[in-house]
Amino acid sequence: MTSPTSPALRERLARDLESARGRTLLLTDHDDPVLLAQHTPLLSPLVWDLAHIGQQEDLWLLRAGDGRREGLLPPDVEALYDAFTHPRAGRARLPLLPPVEARAFCREVRGRVLDRLERLGPDDDPFDFAMVVSHEQQHDETMLQALALRPGAALLGPGTPLPAGRPGVAGSSVAVPGGPFLLGVDPAAEPFSLDNERPAHWVDVPAFHIGRVPVTNAEFASFVTDGGYRTPRWWSDRGWQHRCAAGLERPEFWGPDGTRVRFGVEEDLPPDEPVQHVTFFEAEAYAAWAGARLPTEVEWEKAAAWDPATGRRRRYPWGSAEPTHELANLGGAALRPAPVGAYPQGASAYGAEQLLGDVWEWTSSPFRPWPGFRPMLYADYSAPFFGGDYRVLRGGAWSVAPSVIRPSFRNWDHPIRRQIFSGIRLAWDDAPGAR
Ligand SMILES: [Fe+2]
Repeated sequence: MTSPTSPALRERLARDLESARGRTLLLTDHDDPVLLAQHTPLLSPLVWDLAHIGQQEDLWLLRAGDGRREGLLPPDVEALYDAFTHPRAGRARLPLLPPVEARAFCREVRGRVLDRLERLGPDDDPFDFAMVVSHEQQHDETMLQALALRPGAALLGPGTPLPAGRPGVAGSSVAVPGGPFLLGVDPAAEPFSLDNERPAHWVDVPAFHIGRVPVTNAEFASFVTDGGYRTPRWWSDRGWQHRCAAGLERPEFWGPDGTRVRFGVEEDLPPDEPVQHVTFFEAEAYAAWAGARLPTEVEWEKAAAWDPATGRRRRYPWGSAEPTHELANLGGAALRPAPVGAYPQGASAYGAEQLLGDVWEWTSSPFRPWPGFRPMLYADYSAPFFGGDYRVLRGGAWSVAPSVIRPSFRNWDHPIRRQIFSGIRLAWDDAPGAR
């Protein structure tokens, strides 16, 4: 690992900050009405995300997280960007900074932050910079969710091209023999890991099988046409109640005629693309229909990170190389998942593919701390959510930046959410039968 104080690390952090800001500015490069509108009660108006990104950067990197210290915004304005005080659904009604002022504020903060980065001393821990990069990238992803849902003409173009898939991989699985593995990471190995990924600890995992690739649109369409949404026995009690109450008939964005509309673009459903925009309950029901189950997050991480030949974790499923366009679909420019089989070089030691990128994968696990958990600088990042009604998602979607995703990264959300780029990977206790 690079030393925490090296010029190379400072350069990397400067690059990561710049890359996150490039995305933020691209995703907010729209007319004011687009930025001010609340496109869905589930998400903030884009102009809130924009100024909140600057506000959090000011708080964590210029004031060491101490909100009592004077920031660049007046206290009453800064208070508008407190995510815990103001629920998303009401943010468009707040007297928010207009877009031009929000951009100027973010620029001012960033200038001071880069000065601080330049002055980072040999004993300074740069973790706070990485945490702020991760925060901005997470908001860039929620802005993509809002833009996907926004009705009206396309604003982001068609997305960049992706590699072709390969036939024969959909529906296949790989075996993960039983035995212990090292779950989670320590700062020594992953200095920029967040608190809920730590500490590394041994766990014994019984043998299981896991999907080689995520479930595709074509596979999920079979569940729909087979009456999956009309058959309570595939659903948990809570899942069925939600399906009925919310009137779910098919994944978000799908029409009844094999088309979908997202990001303002209507198109035929690509059959070999991983299904996305399903709730945990839909994922669970699909798995039951398919004679499978969802993996636990511990199984998922073992399939992604463990190398049984060396008895050590790999930094990424494929090894130690940083993610590239040949290894995973990350970064957000594609605007979609890649077809299954598109990344054979990105396979894990067990042969599972597309674990990082493409779609967030629902697991059956509730969000809990690992034994020995200690909150990080931003103490409310994970701890208030442990034990709540959440399920963990793993892997990161096409929308996630490569600099902030790792096999140990844990995302969580309510089981009814599907505006997120969520998909499905199946698991089985034993080798799946003749499928
Ligand atoms: Fe935030």
